[in-house]
Amino acid sequence: MPNETINEQKELFINLLRSTNREGIEDLIDFLENKSDFFTAPASSKFHNNFEGGLLDHTLNVYKNFKKLLEMKNIQMEEDSIIITSLCHDLCKANYYIKESRNRKVDGKWEAYDVWSTNKNPAVPLPHSPRSVRMLRKFISIKFQEELIIYYHMGPYGGEDYEYRNLLQTVNEKHPETLLFYAADLIASYLDEEKEV
Ligand SMILES: [Fe+2]
Ligand SMILES: [Fe+2]
Repeated sequence: MPNETINEQKELFINLLRSTNREGIEDLIDFLENKSDFFTAPASSKFHNNFEGGLLDHTLNVYKNFKKLLEMKNIQMEEDSIIITSLCHDLCKANYYIKESRNRKVDGKWEAYDVWSTNKNPAVPLPHSPRSVRMLRKFISIKFQEELIIYYHMGPYGGEDYEYRNLLQTVNEKHPETLLFYAADLIASYLDEEKEV
């Protein structure tokens, strides 16, 4: 992702977060900007947007998709909640990916190339979605609806146990915005974003 694009997206991202006027939002912005790699991190190590700036681009894609899906199904949601959930659902990926150098032979010559691996010992040792919720709560208070959206954003991939699956179904039925968010995230990952080989 060119630096110019990253800078433009970063400005848009910060302006959106700031527009929520949520208490503590400046501390969250300070963490993202100065104490984490959030704005240059990839969105995944091997799949969608696996390049620098990929995570930032991914969160903005989810924001756009989520807004469109809510509109399509005529579901009302506060703008600040749409922003907080979309932009912060993958906060768990901050300070999580590590760039490593490997060697490969191309046309008989060895060359170095970069691969992304993951931090096996993150500062908040919780699984994906609860880690995002926990990290977000260090800076701002979140509403119950926002917690549900972020917690269940992995849909059926978020847990395999019987209770999780039952709860997911109940939550998706009672709070359809959780289902739409899962769809917005999937659409961003599979249709909007590319994998760099
Ligand atoms: Fe995620
Ligand atoms: Fe995501």
